[in-house]
Amino acid sequence: MPVDTPAPHAIEAHGLRKAFGKTQALDGVDLTVTRGMVYGLLGPNGAGKSTVVRVLATLLRPDSGTATVDGLDVVRDAKAVRTHIGLAGQYAAVDEYLTGRENLVMFGMLSGLTRGRAKARATDLLEQFDLVDAADRPSKGYSGGMRRRLDLAASLASRPPVLFLDEPTTGLDPRSRLTMWGVIQGLVHDGTTVLLTTQYLEEADRLAQRIAVIDRGRVIAEGTPAELKARVGGEGLEVAVVDPADLGAVRAIVAAHASDEVFVDAERRRVRAAVSDGARALAAVAGAIAEAGITTEDVGLHRPTLDEVFLALTGRPVTEDEASDDDGAASGDGEPGGPGGPT
Ligand SMILES: Nc1ncnc2c1ncn2[C@@H]1O[C@H](COP(=O)(O)OP(=O)(O)O)[C@@H](O)[C@H]1O
Ligand SMILES: [Mg+2]
Repeated sequence: MPVDTPAPHAIEAHGLRKAFGKTQALDGVDLTVTRGMVYGLLGPNGAGKSTVVRVLATLLRPDSGTATVDGLDVVRDAKAVRTHIGLAGQYAAVDEYLTGRENLVMFGMLSGLTRGRAKARATDLLEQFDLVDAADRPSKGYSGGMRRRLDLAASLASRPPVLFLDEPTTGLDPRSRLTMWGVIQGLVHDGTTVLLTTQYLEEADRLAQRIAVIDRGRVIAEGTPAELKARVGGEGLEVAVVDPADLGAVRAIVAAHASDEVFVDAERRRVRAAVSDGARALAAVAGAIAEAGITTEDVGLHRPTLDEVFLALTGRPVTEDEASDDDGAASGDGEPGGPGGPT
């Protein structure tokens, strides 16, 4: 790979627009990703995350706007861009009849390594991604998590400086997701720049140094995870009561300690609000509730979910339309709230 004067940013996009028929998938996306970081692109289903990735990875031409990856224009220099990037995601690209090792050797050779180098690289990657034991079995028999790791390893065969991970953990069980998180964290140590798309605030929070929240083809917020969470009001306190008649009293107790508006979910018999000093508020609220003789099902703190981020940023909940469809794999594992989800 030629080492030119490095571009100032790993990724820059200005005013990207892309329509599919009547759907405006991208409606003017701007992004700046500094080298050597994990940058999170967070948004619900249908927000435009994959379209951004496909444009940046040269798989799709934007209708208008410009973007560079490693200083190369994604339209004019598309061919060169492809030698600077890796792409892995929800839909594994590996050949299931080949073993893990054979897949990695094949990807290495496809990206221009000699057979010898591709083999050496495969051995390293198998080790790095915890696939040594399964290396010589056909990948057909791999679990979902192993496949996702193999797919990620394959995208790294050529050591690309910029890596796109499109929902790398959607549909994985919590344990595989944790393993994947460890693997992704390891990548950044090697200096790789990662653009990671996700539907999980917790994932972006854990892995990314900066996050852009995308909604209906637009970046509606950008910042560090701490900045974004602060905009949502930080930690949330939630009380679930046994008797719906207690909701009003609990609301008043919570309101006395909340840093923002109090929400009452009558259907689920819950009261929740953002609090600034979580532990103190929790103790105070629990005490006041006990004193009032109210029986609760649960009193706890939770991190804001993507739904709450959305509500805070857009003033509307994630719509049915956005929250559903497109992704049979994710619903199968039954944990759209992410690991350790709502408490
Ligand atoms: N090839 C396509 N043809 C038609 N519509 C598409 C196509 N790709 C994406 N879309 C639509 O564009 C919008 C953004 O999709 P996408 O970028 O896949 O969102 P995300 O990855 O955030 O779920 C959605 O409304 C989706 O249905
Ligand atoms: Mg997508």
